[in-house]
Amino acid sequence: MESAPASGLLCVMRRIVLRTETDWDGWRRATRALVQAGVEPGALTWAVGDDAQPLPGAAGTFHVPRALVSVASVAIQAREPERFGLLYSLVWRINAGEKVLEDETDPDLSLVRRMALSVRADAHRMRTNMRYLPVADDGGIRYLGWFEPAHFVLPANAQLLARRYPHLPLSIVTPDGSAHWDGSSLLFSAGLRHAADDEALQAWWEAHSELVLEQASADVSVPEAETVDEAPRPPDRPPIGSVVLNTKPDPALMRAGREAGSCHRCPLYQPATQTVFGEGPTGASVMFVGEQPGDQEDTIGRPFVGPAGQIMDRAMEDAGIDRRTVYVTNAVKHFKFIPRGRRRIHQTPEVPEIQACGFWLDVERTHIRPRLTVLMGASAARAVMGRPVTISRERGRPIQTQDGQTVFVTVHPSYLLRLPDAAAKAREYDALVRDLMSIRSLMEAG
Ligand code: URA
Repeated sequence: MESAPASGLLCVMRRIVLRTETDWDGWRRATRALVQAGVEPGALTWAVGDDAQPLPGAAGTFHVPRALVSVASVAIQAREPERFGLLYSLVWRINAGEKVLEDETDPDLSLVRRMALSVRADAHRMRTNMRYLPVADDGGIRYLGWFEPAHFVLPANAQLLARRYPHLPLSIVTPDGSAHWDGSSLLFSAGLRHAADDEALQAWWEAHSELVLEQASADVSVPEAETVDEAPRPPDRPPIGSVVLNTKPDPALMRAGREAGSCHRCPLYQPATQTVFGEGPTGASVMFVGEQPGDQEDTIGRPFVGPAGQIMDRAMEDAGIDRRTVYVTNAVKHFKFIPRGRRRIHQTPEVPEIQACGFWLDVERTHIRPRLTVLMGASAARAVMGRPVTISRERGRPIQTQDGQTVFVTVHPSYLLRLPDAAAKAREYDALVRDLMSIRSLMEAG
């Protein structure tokens, strides 16, 4: 126990120790017992370790609305240490009769929701960005992945990948820990702090895998992974580029992305879930610009992750471009839609919305300074070239703009989704891949 001054009085602090960073069962057990014992949020500190103390006996009523359970199971994976206490205080207040979930302006609830959005984007990044190295294992092949997560997304998402690819033995190594699936059990063990490149990862695995697997344990309490996205990258798909990619986002752009999170430059922010800023490494030589986030991008918080993004990813790989090495963004950063029943129907942004959001695109272009900007579709072309552009007339070649930039116009991948027949789709897909191959040649020519 610790003592801390509160309001001039000495108040006894109780330290609650959870077993892991994502100890969902432990947090839930402790929360129930502590709320029922009447322990105020301010009298608790939360930590992760192996010196857990007994909890008070639980009795009496206790209530957690389903909506809070679902946001908490995601937010608990956030890296912010204050998340356990913050979630506890929401449960405490609800049990004290406050209508917290009905107050959209509640600062604690907003913070928890922001944490959950950030975790969701990271989980999706892990599922779709991770590449795997095939390594020899027990006479077969094991797929060895490497990922540096922003949050503690490994345990829940390793579970999801194991369920999705039951016949592919895999190990995912991160600085926080590693997960190992052999077709029947999912085990967790220590991770690797830093992997310089694929060779270093492979050498570490060869030297340590026996011990790592021997020490691995199934005894981990994990929240259920959300299945927002049904298309994780298959572990046995041959990687384009290296498995370990030490690229970092530009810190100034990350700050700009956070500021754009509260952008009110046009009314599109109102119904949207969140701002979807661009993503990609510092020093990317090519920037891809689309129109605006769609339904899935709005939910997940990353550009080009829904159906159009999946076409773009496939076409990039067929053209030999590793998406993780380019910067991907949109002319407009909020999803514009009209609700129809439970669906949200995409609406093309108007010129004033494109112009208002041009502020953020300029910020991105100023920081990234791409050698080539790829404009996918008419809205992106209008945003950057400042005039209406007929795609069929201007696609497929580098164009110098008046402000001295080099741009390359191509179709928007969702154009392919709208084509009625398979033959037209295949023809247009090949044309998109040809454009991307020209882009790759321009990238390589420097
Ligand atoms: N369409 C876009 O233009 N951008 C996205 O991010 C998704 C779909």
